[in-house]
Order: sequence, then C-alpha cells, then structure tokens
Amino acid sequence: MKDILIIANWKSNKTINEARNWLDEFNISDVNLNNKEVIVCPPFTLLGFLKKEIEQRGLLVKLGAQDISPFEEGAHTGDINGKQIKEFAEYVLVGHSERRSKYSESDEMLLRKVEMAKRYGLEPLFFTPNETSPIPESVKTIVYEPPFSISTSPNPTIESPEDVNEVAKKIKENGEGVQCVLYGGSVTPQNVNSFVSMENIDGVLVGGESLDASSFLQIVQNA
Ligand code: PGA
Repeated sequence: MKDILIIANWKSNKTINEARNWLDEFNISDVNLNNKEVIVCPPFTLLGFLKKEIEQRGLLVKLGAQDISPFEEGAHTGDINGKQIKEFAEYVLVGHSERRSKYSESDEMLLRKVEMAKRYGLEPLFFTPNETSPIPESVKTIVYEPPFSISTSPNPTIESPEDVNEVAKKIKENGEGVQCVLYGGSVTPQNVNSFVSMENIDGVLVGGESLDASSFLQIVQNA
C-alpha cells in the first residue's frame, strides 16, 4: 500500500483563536490513518502555537511553512529563514503559483529556496504547473497544481484523475529524484479518493477546503 500525503495550505488565513477552534473540531484521533500522513501549512504567525498544541493534544499532524527566505539569517527585512522555520516545521512549500505570479518568483529564486530548505533539513514540497516546468534536482516531492484548477481562480477547471495520473507519471519519468507527486486544485471530500486511488498520485494539497476542520477531516478520511 503506498503512502498518502494530505496537506492543508491555509494561505493567508486564521488567527490564533480561529486556529484553536479548528483544532477543537479536527478529531483526527478518531481516524484510522494507516498509510496517511497529514501536514498542515499555516501562516508563519501560527507555527509556534500549532506546534505546542499538536504536542499537547498528541495529534498525528506535522507542520509545514508556506514559504522560506532564499537567504541565510541577516539583513533581510520581512524574511523568515530556514534556521527559524526548522524550530517549528519539517516541510516547506516552494513555488506555489500565487507566489510565482504575485511576487514574480523566478526559477532561480525557487532553486535558492529549495537549497535553503535542504540546508536546514526541511523537506521542500515543490509546486509545478505542468509536466515540463523545471524541477530542482534535489526535490523528492512535487505538487502538480495547474493554476486554472485552484478553487479561487476565475473559472476553476479540474482535470480528470486519469489526466492528472498521466501528468504525474511524466513528472516522475522526467524528474530524476522525484519520488512522490501530489495533486492540488479544488480537492474536496467528494473527489479526493478519485485522485489518490490513481497509481501515480501520492496525495493531495488542499487549500479552501482545509480551512474548515470538518471538511478537511472528511478529506483525510476519504483519501
Ligand atoms: P484550493 O487551493 O484547494 O482552494 O484549490 C489549492 C492551493 O492553491 O494550494
């Protein structure tokens, strides 16, 4: 049985109180996780709070950051670096299409972010919008997420699980070190299983539906 990764990307959402309410509702201890691994990527402001709560509540949930500085610690106002992230998280998202388009993050910049993640023992979860976009060599886990499939895009269009499976297969063939390919874009409790039951799809990354604890729990259950 393959391992399945289920990732929540909260984007720029939630205060500490809202995160506490989410945890109160997220009864993951009732779910038989078997081969499933759950990772929550909150905003930086919630990493410390969530780490403490997850430990205290004994939850089988890991943490990821949504971004990483391309630089080491130092004079980089506003940046959060790998050394700082490592105090809280094991994973980091790199190259989400919202960062590529709204902050003009280039392939070169993303490569530096991946290098920083690796230097500090963080696992980069690297986004690609298609099967031909460059993937840094050391990346093991890819999130295939076409921007038009994201739930907040103007007319979200979801590809069929069969088509995503084909793309995932090509990404694995093309990318030397790639071990896992996840799918992202309008994943719901209803469609999650159709994706993860495909041979080459090793999990999902969930945006909108992860903000609601019961929807996300349902996604974990149904995956
Ligand atoms: P969505 O977002 O699940 O709301 O489509 C996914 C993402 O952009 O990370």
